[in-house]
Amino acid sequence: MTQYTQLPEAIRHLIKENRRNHNHELGDLIRDGGYVPPHMDLLIDAITALSMGKNVLLKGPTGSGKTRFAETLSNLFNQPMFNVNCSVDLDAESLMGFKTLDYEGDRQIIEFVPGPVTNAMKHGTFLYIDEINMAKPETLPLINGVLDYRRTITNPFTEEIITAKDGFGVVAAINEGYIGTVPLNEALKNRFIVIDIPYLQGEQLKRLIQDDSRLQDNPTIDLFVRLSGDLIQAVAQGKLAEDAASIRALLDACDLAAMIPPKRAICRAIADKLDEDREKAFVITMAETLFG
Ligand SMILES: Nc1ncnc2c1ncn2[C@@H]1O[C@H](COP(=O)(O)OP(=O)(O)OP(=O)(O)O)[C@@H](O)[C@H]1O
Ligand SMILES: [Mg+2]
Repeated sequence: MTQYTQLPEAIRHLIKENRRNHNHELGDLIRDGGYVPPHMDLLIDAITALSMGKNVLLKGPTGSGKTRFAETLSNLFNQPMFNVNCSVDLDAESLMGFKTLDYEGDRQIIEFVPGPVTNAMKHGTFLYIDEINMAKPETLPLINGVLDYRRTITNPFTEEIITAKDGFGVVAAINEGYIGTVPLNEALKNRFIVIDIPYLQGEQLKRLIQDDSRLQDNPTIDLFVRLSGDLIQAVAQGKLAEDAASIRALLDACDLAAMIPPKRAICRAIADKLDEDREKAFVITMAETLFG
């Protein structure tokens, strides 16, 4: 938690007040931290909203650190976090759970296996809903009641009325504009505090590369930081697809560059993933300009 010592006293106090004293079997679901906020406000606002029992929506491009941000919130609050990964196949069962046959002695019984929403509500933990705009529009309204002040849902499979235990909190992530996503339903969006997640840049990105990648050569790291800035700019100008600027891909390139020439590392980790030859050539030219 050392890197969060720059948080204002009042915010650290909020965390202390709301930190979970867990004792239990869910300890494995408390995630590692490690998110480096481009501005402290991002963390301050997320911590404030969650402490007040509000839902947080992290909005940002792929590889900008949204999942790491959510994991860091779990870590700061010492709160286990259940996960929902949305896709077009997401249905009520993957949210709430499902019925299955089991044996009690030789007697057959119907058992209910709780899903992530049921689990998080009953245990009063965090719930991370990833790529929330990948779900079919008709699926998520099921949990509208979970997301508003009622914090209540009737499990459609058991008819049980579930009210969330204290400590329950929702963090969701969306990548707006990504292919396959649908604009988030207004009623749903309305239930969140929205936090825009920009890419980490400059000195902070340099430190992240030093800490999180295998690359240790500082002059090379500096060039990768410049490359990242150039890629972000090219994406903003519409010259490259958004995933070209992913910090995930950049860290992969840095890892490889600890062993192989940077230009090849950039081909494998960044350029070759792009769909159009024109885009690939553009990234390779950037790599040549910087790394020779
Ligand atoms: N600000 C940051 N602080 C710490 N790590 C970061 C940051 N930005 C990116 N990363 C690193 O980049 C990688 C991708 O981050 P993460 O998976 O959180 O992105 P994401 O926004 O969830 O992407 P996606 O939309 O594809 O799921 C991880 O290895 C993560 O640690
Ligand atoms: Mg993610």
